[in-house]
Amino acid sequence: MIIHDIQKIISLLKKEEIAAIPTETVYGLAGIATSYKAVSKIYKLKNRPAFNPLIVHVSNVEQIHTFAELSLEQITCLEYFWNHEQPLTIVLRLKNNHQITPLVTAGLSTIAVRKPHHPLAIEIIKQTGPLAAPSANTSNKLSPTKAEHVESSFGENAPLILDGGECLIGLESTILHLVDIKKPILLRAGGVSLEKLEAFFKQTISLHTEKKIQAPGQLKHHYSPGCPLKMNTTTIEDGEVLLGFGENAPPYTTLNLSQKGHLDEAAHNLFHALYQLSLLKPKAIAVMPIPKTGIGLAINDRLERAAAKND
Ligand code: TXA
Ligand code: MG
Repeated sequence: MIIHDIQKIISLLKKEEIAAIPTETVYGLAGIATSYKAVSKIYKLKNRPAFNPLIVHVSNVEQIHTFAELSLEQITCLEYFWNHEQPLTIVLRLKNNHQITPLVTAGLSTIAVRKPHHPLAIEIIKQTGPLAAPSANTSNKLSPTKAEHVESSFGENAPLILDGGECLIGLESTILHLVDIKKPILLRAGGVSLEKLEAFFKQTISLHTEKKIQAPGQLKHHYSPGCPLKMNTTTIEDGEVLLGFGENAPPYTTLNLSQKGHLDEAAHNLFHALYQLSLLKPKAIAVMPIPKTGIGLAINDRLERAAAKND
């Protein structure tokens, strides 16, 4: 059920139940990060493999000190991006004697942390403490950018969903492995562009490749729209639909991610457009080329995963 009562969500979470909450990237399925009971419900409802760890959401840097090692340099990085409301997740080393349930980290010695930049999410976390929250969709399906997407993804098993409107960014956070501050590694392209990270760190940032698995959850097949997806094409065959980009999209384009060719607008619209196209039950979704610059890298990453065959 979709509701607007934030206090109801807070008291539910405090009782170690789970609920869907809005963030600026996508909706998250949240539970108290120290609660085995709550976090096991998250894995169960999502049908998520236990080896795929979750991100812990905090409302300020101080909360991190209770569970992860944090140097001054790492704090400077976090403050720079978080004070500018940038969707950055960083992977840090876990502290000894932390209270986070091991389910969250899938047994790793590191932990992914981010501060969401949605006023409702911040308000909730201030009152509940750190929350584990993966995207609020069943495993391998499209990420939700509206409360209605969460409801349709889980159907009759849907949790209570706090309506916070459409997610501003529309794509998940960028994940940066920052255990060694001198060697940041991009684990997942996302709302913060590689260019912005490289400008901050004043160095080239290496990209995580499928071979050296740092993020077990970076599964190749993900974000399935329920039908085949073809990338970098402007032509369609019978029964197919075309997801366009920019002003050169042909007249038979079914939906355009951004008429003006703006990448931020395309990211914001991406998952909703894929939801809408999948409702048409097409033989395939064809997608026009999208530049790989800025947030375009993350858009292409999600589309490549949606196009990958299940193997
Ligand atoms: O924008 C977002 O990040 C959204 C919103 C809800 O905050 N959350 C999200 O969570 O995308 P999820 O569970 O769909 O993706 C979490 C990713 C997974 O790919 C997982 O492998 C990675 O974070 N991850 C979590 N802990 C990690 C760790 N210790 N080391 C490396 N990767 C980790
Ligand atoms: Mg996800």
